[in-house]
Amino acid sequence: MKKLIILAAALCTGSVFADEGMWQPHQLPTIAKDLKKAGLKLSPEKLTNLTDFPMGAIVSLGGCTASFVSDKGLVVTNHHCAYGSIQYNSTEENNLLENGFLAKKLGEELQAAAGSRIYVTENIVNVSNQIKKGLTGSMSGSDRYAHIDNMSKKLVAECESDKAYRCSVVNFHGGLEYYLFKQLMIRDVRLVHAPANSVGKYGGDIDNWMWPRHTGDYAFYRAYVGKDGKPADFSEDNVPFKPKHHLKVNAKGVDDGDYIMVLGYPGRTNRYRTADEVKNTFTENYPLTKELMGSLVETIKGNSEEGSDERLKYASLIAGLANYEKNRGSMMESYHKGTTQQRKDQLNKELRKWVNKKSSRKKQFGGAIGELDNLVATSHATYKRDTIFGYASISSMMSSASRLYRLALEKQKTDMERESGYQERDLNRISQSMKRISRRYEAKVDQAILMNLLTRYAQLPAKERIQDVDRFFSIDDGFSEARLAKKLDKMYAKTKLGDEAVRLAWMEKSVADFEKSEDPFIQYAVKTYKARKALEDKSKDLSGKLNAVRPKYMEAIIAYNKSKGLPIYADANSTLRVTYGNVKGYSPKDGMYAVPFTTLDGLLQKEIGEEPFNSPKKLLDVINKKDYGSYYKKDIDSVPVNYLGTLDITGGNSGSPTLNDKAELVGLVFDGVYESIIGDWDYDPSLNRSIHVDSRYMLWVMEKVDGAHNLIKEMDIVR
Ligand code: ARG
Repeated sequence: MKKLIILAAALCTGSVFADEGMWQPHQLPTIAKDLKKAGLKLSPEKLTNLTDFPMGAIVSLGGCTASFVSDKGLVVTNHHCAYGSIQYNSTEENNLLENGFLAKKLGEELQAAAGSRIYVTENIVNVSNQIKKGLTGSMSGSDRYAHIDNMSKKLVAECESDKAYRCSVVNFHGGLEYYLFKQLMIRDVRLVHAPANSVGKYGGDIDNWMWPRHTGDYAFYRAYVGKDGKPADFSEDNVPFKPKHHLKVNAKGVDDGDYIMVLGYPGRTNRYRTADEVKNTFTENYPLTKELMGSLVETIKGNSEEGSDERLKYASLIAGLANYEKNRGSMMESYHKGTTQQRKDQLNKELRKWVNKKSSRKKQFGGAIGELDNLVATSHATYKRDTIFGYASISSMMSSASRLYRLALEKQKTDMERESGYQERDLNRISQSMKRISRRYEAKVDQAILMNLLTRYAQLPAKERIQDVDRFFSIDDGFSEARLAKKLDKMYAKTKLGDEAVRLAWMEKSVADFEKSEDPFIQYAVKTYKARKALEDKSKDLSGKLNAVRPKYMEAIIAYNKSKGLPIYADANSTLRVTYGNVKGYSPKDGMYAVPFTTLDGLLQKEIGEEPFNSPKKLLDVINKKDYGSYYKKDIDSVPVNYLGTLDITGGNSGSPTLNDKAELVGLVFDGVYESIIGDWDYDPSLNRSIHVDSRYMLWVMEKVDGAHNLIKEMDIVR
């Protein structure tokens, strides 16, 4: 808290930082003047209360954001956030991705993908003192890691004494601060409505990350609980959840220049990384991962026929890979065209100069900065192997075998001693993920994915490879693709892990059962466990070492930024944040200005009648009839489809409600423009634009095209 008082002084005098910043709710009063000036009508204090309106209406889906829009637990999010659940319920004969889906009454709603959750954050507590107590400078990295992990587990266990809640300890500024999050966890989530892909994913991967945009990226879920009102596993008897708060949907929308804000759960940004980390990422990690993601998409497509059930099982994975392949591509382009590295290098120099100028500062920060660079270099040395090996868990056989064996090992310990992810509190999650594989797995495709990755792995120099893994797959310097292919043929022919009941049964088995098993993937898990565990321990040690220096580095950066009058907020870490700004166009290139609204007429101009520009006929008919209903916006002479905002968002914010000055829902944020993607590392106010689906377009399609009158009636609509 002390730090924040200093912060408050710095920020209240400034007031130049509208747009940039992902603020923790408790920070809002410190930027109250800016919020007011930007146009917020609610008191910033009110926004700090998580169980009050509007925060109480904002939920996390774990990876995406959403919000309650009725008193019967109706939840709105992006189509691309519900995509996995739509896919989960799709078959070749009944393809909901292609056709869309609407439950006209409660009984028709479908179970979301196994393991789907809705989290309502009810409390956030600063637990920095508890977590850091007992940490010493002389501890080894591993001990430090273990200490923090144990303290976190203890706090989490206390917090979860009420089983309705899921708690987690999250670090901010690389470990400078820790917060404990308490979230109501709703476990019965159902799919209520999704438009067809040709609306919800209009423009597909061509338009993804681009402006101008015409995507109806919205979908609806409903939260269900037991009859007692408490979270419960799926059951026919469950009833809709009654949230304390829900948002009103504003059908009048916003205008150019209007105040907007987004409350949500941004995943990860890297705005305070060192110059070396930036360089490593953009010149080595991203080129590798971009190529990998593209190649895996090819592999999957090459092993499943378009429109087939096999392909449908991988629709979600393909969408995710393609999304991030393009994301990385844009970032690399911006990096090579722009001055990101020069400025990071410059900052690096200036920071050192600033630290060295005063002996007290030098003493406090000097050592940490040098040590951080060493650790970054150590961790980067094996990035290739670590990346390729990490991607191998995309293979459901590899990941489920390893996970199941680990569970058997961990079960031998007391609950508190177990590795996190394998405690009693995690069993439900594990079994759900074992179930989920059933609609996401095809042996032939899984095998091709693994072949792709192991072939890459085999090309690594011997000293980077893992001996036990090499031995298992008979990989050596004279690598033969044919030999590996034959080995995989045999493994996939013999394994029984493709069967859901078999996977679930393994959750109950002992270490001895695993050791005796003849299932080739179980054998892989057993025989390579020690080697894989050694790597895990090494990485924990490194992360403990980083934890000893990164917070000091961050303290230096914070003090330095403060001296320059720059905004100070923590990098995104999947926790609740607020960002605010305005509806506003931008200039993506010299000589061009992009206006902030797109229109139905603009959508018509894109139509080619073929994917991904193939709107439903009904939608085209209504546009041609100029049947705008009550959603017409005069200055654009049409219904607004998408709009641009200046909000500081990233992946994870997807599905967040876009709110006006009174916290009414005026849209959903679903993307950022191409030129802004590098903003995750290097924010530029002139290029940073968020893309929102306009509430008017959503309501217009629901009313005029999909006939979702039941939902329109259920929501509180401000007309
Ligand atoms: N770019 C969006 C995001 O990362 C995802 C959009 C999904 N649409 C698509 N065509 N892949 O939030």
